[in-house]
Amino acid sequence: MTDALDPAWLPDDAFRAVGTRRTLVRGTGPLADTVRGEVAAACARFGGALVDEGAPAGLVLELTDGGASGVGPGGVGDFGDEGFGYARADGRATVTASGGRGLLYGLFHVVRLGEAAFLGGPVREEHRPALALRMLDHWDNVAVHPVMGQVERGYAGGSLFWSDGRARDALDRVRAYGRLLAACGINAVCVNNVNVHETEAHLLTDRIGEVAAIAAALRPYGVRTHLSVTFAAPVVLGPLPTADPLDARVRDWWAGVTERVYEAVPDFGGYVVKADSEGQPGPFAYGRTHADGANLLAAALAPYGGTVHWRAFVYDHRQDWRDRSTDRARAAYDHFVPLDGEFAANAVLQVKHGPMDFQVREPVSPLIGAMPGTRLAVEVQATQEYTGQQRHVCWLGPMWSEVLRFRPDGEVAVGRLADALVAVSNVGDDPFWTGHPLAQANLYTFGRLAWDPAADPRAVLDEWIALTHPDAGRRLTEGLHAVLDGSWAAYEKYTAPLGVGFMVQPGHHYGPSVDGYEYSPWGTYHFADRDGVGVDRGAATGTGYAAQYAEPWAKLFESPGTCPDELLLFFHHVPYGHVLHSGKTVIQHIYDTHFEGVEEAEEARRVWAGLADLVEPARHARVAERYEEQVRSAREWRDQVNSYFLRKSGVPDERGRTIH
Ligand code: GCU
Repeated sequence: MTDALDPAWLPDDAFRAVGTRRTLVRGTGPLADTVRGEVAAACARFGGALVDEGAPAGLVLELTDGGASGVGPGGVGDFGDEGFGYARADGRATVTASGGRGLLYGLFHVVRLGEAAFLGGPVREEHRPALALRMLDHWDNVAVHPVMGQVERGYAGGSLFWSDGRARDALDRVRAYGRLLAACGINAVCVNNVNVHETEAHLLTDRIGEVAAIAAALRPYGVRTHLSVTFAAPVVLGPLPTADPLDARVRDWWAGVTERVYEAVPDFGGYVVKADSEGQPGPFAYGRTHADGANLLAAALAPYGGTVHWRAFVYDHRQDWRDRSTDRARAAYDHFVPLDGEFAANAVLQVKHGPMDFQVREPVSPLIGAMPGTRLAVEVQATQEYTGQQRHVCWLGPMWSEVLRFRPDGEVAVGRLADALVAVSNVGDDPFWTGHPLAQANLYTFGRLAWDPAADPRAVLDEWIALTHPDAGRRLTEGLHAVLDGSWAAYEKYTAPLGVGFMVQPGHHYGPSVDGYEYSPWGTYHFADRDGVGVDRGAATGTGYAAQYAEPWAKLFESPGTCPDELLLFFHHVPYGHVLHSGKTVIQHIYDTHFEGVEEAEEARRVWAGLADLVEPARHARVAERYEEQVRSAREWRDQVNSYFLRKSGVPDERGRTIH
């Protein structure tokens, strides 16, 4: 099946510079073998050769033992398991690593550089990932769920891993996936949905063999496998009557089960847990804390070096919309900050990047940076649940980069505070991997930002373009930048305004419904009335959410006068005539951005149409077809949002455009 697959950012031609050279691979072990296999395949295509010790070589890929005998380019031997040194001199390139993954990442570094890896003046560099864990969470169900389908919030077909109720027999596609992930630096995958249903609960025990098969397909590319488990597993799978984390029988149960997991998957990464969240079971049922819950699993994993990722997405999803004292945005901070310092060393708190739920615009969660005694994973969503569901182009690199560069205490950036970056995967069994071919850019950008959170996302996009289209000339490169660079901003313009969020169709979350969640139990309100719109989250008169931030942010967000425009309605309820820093009133901003956003989508469609002669026909056609839907949907958003606010406010558009 792999033949029919889109090569994404690893087309054969991306290996031309490597494949035309004579290469020496020094080192042993499974990942060195993978590197050797990659080089051999490239040489078979382009005429180069793998050479033996002593023969002249244009490329040397060297795995040292990491000790004193290691000779890195800077005389440094130890790059850890994942780092590598790269040196170029006299038309030759050398990669030195002390771990197998480092060697593999070094090879892909050379692939990315292409000819530039060899040509030009002498260079010596050291590369190490900023974040130790760079993980994709798949919200895949083994059995097709009656409401959510197979992949919850999945927009790229069925699951890559599971089919017909079990792990796929042919896992060549999974192997190809691992290869793509390694090429952008991702080193971990969680293979099932955080909402663990009955069938999937069994992956932990009697069906662990299926997980082991997937792990074996990912391992050659240095990708470790993790599993989502239900906190109630000892009861669901039996035979215990309780899942109380302080009960010795429960502790023994997890210890025994985990031992067998490691027998089947020796390099197993660990568990991912959604507990006491949206109906999933958790420690609250036993009057225990989330630290008690997380530490139970951490203790079971500790002997094997595994990690539990405990999600902080805990809030009341059965709120009464009439109750103005409850603010969902506050929930994660309120639940978890008092537990700082209580989590085990191998427990990682996995926090969504915003306080609500992956909206197109949210402030960075105040929980990030507020628990210095707790390991932190930041979770973003590559699958575009609220950002166009892979029918719209929405390149999220700039959003993620903003999050990673945010400095919760005014000093240290999120990208340096975090131990891990996690994305909900946007990949399925679609031939283009991500449904929308341009959504591949999100996956690639995620991996590269997780490796280097300070990287310029536009430079990452350049890499993606050059790898995906090795022969891209100026016109294609500029065209791709034109349709991708501003796509997040355009999407924000034609959807919910100024950080207020939601306004989507309930349930599936695609397309506009301004009041869709306004009188629901989900805690996602905009409070629009005839006079104004937005949520008062200030400390003085509102829910107090703004005060969860450290300075300088608490003060900045507290006042509508200093709150950034793009977040104004997240933090404040203001009259339609409120004047933004931009000089526009809120109502005029709403009208203008909605007209502009649609125009930008139309323009992107036009630019894409003009690239037809430069892009492989099936790929071009898939994107062109999705642009039709994007433009239709953007117009629908524009018209519903503008009409709604015109009717509520009675304030006409100062430019007299048609609003229905
Ligand atoms: C969102 C999403 C759910 C998902 C949940 C989570 O609410 O709509 O499908 O289960 O996030 O992150 O756990």
